[in-house]
Amino acid sequence: MTLLTGVSVISFVLGQALAQSGITSPLAQACSSYSNNTDVVCINRYASAMPPSFQRQSSTGGAFSSDDTFVDTQVPSDPSFQLVNNATFVVFDERGSQILGPCPKLDHVFASRNDSIHEGPVYVPDLDAIVFSLPHRGIYQQQIIHLNGSAPRLDNYTTTPPVYAVNGGKLFNGKVYWAVEAGFSFPSPQNGSLVAQRPGIYQLNPSTGEVTVLLNNYFGQAFNSPNDLWVDIQGDIWFTDSWYGYAINVTEYPVLRPATYRFRPSTGRVSIVEDSIAQPNGIGMSPDGRTMYISDTGVTNFANYPADGPLPRYTYNALGGNSLYAFDVVASPAGSYITNKRPIYLAQTFGDDGFHVAQNGYLLAAEGGGVTVLSAHGEMLLRIETGFTVNNIQFAGPERKDLWIFGEGPISRVTWDLVGMASE
Ligand SMILES: *[C@@H]1O[C@H](CO)[C@@H](O)[C@H](O)[C@H]1NC(C)=O
Ligand SMILES: *[C@@H]1O[C@H](CO)[C@@H](O)[C@H](O)[C@H]1NC(C)=O
Ligand SMILES: *[C@@H]1O[C@H](CO)[C@@H](O)[C@H](O)[C@H]1NC(C)=O
Ligand SMILES: *[C@@H]1O[C@H](CO)[C@@H](O)[C@H](O)[C@H]1NC(C)=O
Ligand SMILES: *[C@@H]1O[C@H](CO)[C@@H](O)[C@H](O)[C@H]1NC(C)=O
Ligand SMILES: *[C@@H]1O[C@H](CO)[C@@H](O)[C@H](O)[C@H]1NC(C)=O
Ligand SMILES: *[C@@H]1O[C@H](CO)[C@@H](O)[C@H](O)[C@H]1NC(C)=O
Repeated sequence: MTLLTGVSVISFVLGQALAQSGITSPLAQACSSYSNNTDVVCINRYASAMPPSFQRQSSTGGAFSSDDTFVDTQVPSDPSFQLVNNATFVVFDERGSQILGPCPKLDHVFASRNDSIHEGPVYVPDLDAIVFSLPHRGIYQQQIIHLNGSAPRLDNYTTTPPVYAVNGGKLFNGKVYWAVEAGFSFPSPQNGSLVAQRPGIYQLNPSTGEVTVLLNNYFGQAFNSPNDLWVDIQGDIWFTDSWYGYAINVTEYPVLRPATYRFRPSTGRVSIVEDSIAQPNGIGMSPDGRTMYISDTGVTNFANYPADGPLPRYTYNALGGNSLYAFDVVASPAGSYITNKRPIYLAQTFGDDGFHVAQNGYLLAAEGGGVTVLSAHGEMLLRIETGFTVNNIQFAGPERKDLWIFGEGPISRVTWDLVGMASE
């Protein structure tokens, strides 16, 4: 009692609260190798001890606020934090600045569309081009970015037959594998005749533009809307089946719980591998094939969506889960399965969407308004703040050193020193 009174008298006399010891100061500063570059900032000790007056906006009322981010945190008593809000590359760990190269750059290459997000990018080396999708009601084709000329060139890309609402893709042995969300018939952009389609796993031959259906049901039940996929060394396709096709009204009400499956194209057999993640989303494997990663966007809550509400059909629930999980990959005669589920990273904003693994094992996730780069063990190394919501990413170019960024804004490109996997 006496002591407390003494403290309040002292702070009254000083006209301010007592400083706590251990506060990190400054929280942010120029990185040693980028002293001239305000686009790159280094965070000290992960800003683990901020002055207590810090304030981060929290998302309320079922909607996600784009200011609900680490970089938008208000830290009135440490002006150094303003450097963070101004930077594109926010470095948390020395390994984060090592991958940036001498002059890292974020370019907005193609303008935003106001009628669709950008998704499912796949780099096709034989074409030196990225095929990507516009998963939205009323858009029945994809687009392609040709990288073979002096400047990237954007064009429409229509397959035979056309495909509606691709959401994820991967290249394997020269073919593109697509996770396709839409389950409604649609008019062919070529001649208007009705094309019937179910959500599933499709294969594109990029040299001919021909598409074949590999999987569209689980014992007669339609998949909800395959979201993203990964092809392992044996050619087995691992895919997440979540509810976003229903969310954007390109397919029917879900009939299967969200889950992750392994599908073997040579036999047609599909097996469940994971059913505990709320909304499984991005998926990828370590370069040695021993660790599988699956992200959760369970922060999108389908339970409380009002029947007459606008699209997308979910509300935001911060408590719904947004961890990235790692699993051990274990071989079996039927194909690999995954065990030892463990969270290795909790998204610092929203949840991790499209997910890729770099050649050196680093993990890259499209997360809220940027891209997160983690070590193979989930340590935060670097954030790329893009200024728009990112849905997916793709390494491209002959050395696979350009990271192309797709989402709800301009199609953008980071040039740096991190290299993607050949199979990405
Ligand atoms: C930083 O800027 C100064 C002045 O423009 C220049 O002389 C110096 O070479 C720059 N240093 C680096 C590392 O780019
Ligand atoms: C951040 O950018 C704004 C606008 O460009 C500028 O006015 C401000 O000085 C910058 N702050 C810091 C700390 O660099
Ligand atoms: C979207 O862009 C098109 C073409 O520029 C324009 O005609 C249309 O009005 C825009 N729609 C909205 C909702 O901004
Ligand atoms: C790039 O590829 C496209 C499509 O194959 C082709 O039409 C174009 O001529 C090529 N451009 C160059 C500069 O080679
Ligand atoms: C691409 O397709 C859209 C219709 O989906 C059409 O409006 C547009 O003109 C096409 N662009 C090119 C370059 O052909
Ligand atoms: C319309 O185009 C589709 C391919 O998109 C083709 O399968 C179909 O035969 C065509 N129908 C007509 C009437 O030409
Ligand atoms: C969803 O799609 C159906 C057609 O399948 C349409 O009638 C309905 O208006 C759409 N709902 C919304 C909210 O866009």
